[in-house]
Amino acid sequence: AQLNTLAKAKGMKYFGSATDNGELTDTAYVKILSDSTEFGQITPGNSQKWDSIEPSQGTFSYTKGDAIVSLAETNGQLLRCHNLCWHSQLPSWVTSGTWTNATLIAALKNHITNEVTHYKGKCYAWDVVNEAFNDDGTYRTDVFYNTIGPEYIPIAFEAAAAADPTVKLYYNDYNIESSGGKATAALNLVKSLKARGIKIDGVGLQAHFIVGSTPSLSAQVANLNTFIAAGVEVAYTELDIRFTSLPATTSGLAQQTTDYYNTVAACVQVGCVGITIWDYTDKYSWIPSTFSGQGDALPWDSNLVKKAGAYYGIVSA
Ligand code: XIL
Repeated sequence: AQLNTLAKAKGMKYFGSATDNGELTDTAYVKILSDSTEFGQITPGNSQKWDSIEPSQGTFSYTKGDAIVSLAETNGQLLRCHNLCWHSQLPSWVTSGTWTNATLIAALKNHITNEVTHYKGKCYAWDVVNEAFNDDGTYRTDVFYNTIGPEYIPIAFEAAAAADPTVKLYYNDYNIESSGGKATAALNLVKSLKARGIKIDGVGLQAHFIVGSTPSLSAQVANLNTFIAAGVEVAYTELDIRFTSLPATTSGLAQQTTDYYNTVAACVQVGCVGITIWDYTDKYSWIPSTFSGQGDALPWDSNLVKKAGAYYGIVSA
C-alpha cells in the first residue's frame, strides 16, 4: 500500500513530500516523487523563499518556484507553498537594509502581495509566517520583529488574504508538536488573529524530530487538539526523524519505526489535513548538511529504497 492512498483512506487530504529544483534532473528520484499514490502533495524546499523570489528589491524571479508548480500540476498533486515571511534565507537587502517601521512594512507587503498574486490558484496553502517564536514562547528578534514589532505577523496575514482570499493561510513552526512555551505562543497567535477577524486557517507543525525523543502519541494528540479547538486545521509540514549518531543500531531502527508510527497515528486520530515529509529520501535530506554527523531521517534510503522500519511505521498508522 502507498502512503497517499492510505492517508486518503484515513480521511486526510494528502501525504506529501518536499522537493527541490536541483533534484529534478534525477529521473529515478522524480519517478517516485511523481507517483501520486505515494505523494498527493509537494512543497518546494527552497524555491519560494524570499531570497529566491525577490533577490533584489522589486525584482521578482519565479522560474524555479514555477518549475515545482508545474511538476505538481503534471502529477495531479496539491502544492503547499512555503514561505512568505521568515527570519532565514532572506536576501541581504532585507537583513542589512536601513529600515524604518513604514519602509519595512511596505517592503513586506509588496513581497507578499506580489508572490501570493503570482501563485494565486496554484497553492492549497501558504506558510505565511514561519518560525516567529523562540522555544520559550518569546518573539524571535529578527529584522521584522526588531523593526516593526509583533504587528508584522497580522500585517503579513492580512496582505496574503487580500492577494488570494481562497488559499489557506498557515502559521508554521518547529518544536510546537507537544505542549510548552512555544506551542502556547503559536496557539495564542491563532487566538489573537481570530479575535481581530484576521484570516488564519491552519497551523503547520514542522516535526523535525529525533529518534527516541519524538513526543508520544498521546502528547501529540493532545497538542494537535488544542489547535483544532482554536478553530484552525493542522498539518505536519516537514516531518523527518533523524538519528543523532550514525550508523543506526537495530534498536534505534525499531525506535524510529515507533516514532514514525506515533506521529502519523496522532495526525490520523485528530483528523489532521495531511502530512509532508521533508523530502522522501536520505539522498536529498537537509539533515546531514545542517546537523553534522546526523541523518537517516526519512522513509526511503539514499538508494531510493523503502526502509523496512520507517516506511512501515507510517503504513501501520
Ligand atoms: C531547509 C532546506 O531543506 C535546505 O535545503 C536549506 O538549505 C535550509 O532550509 N525549516 C523550514 C524549512 O521551514 O524551510 C527548512 O528547509 C528546514 C527548517
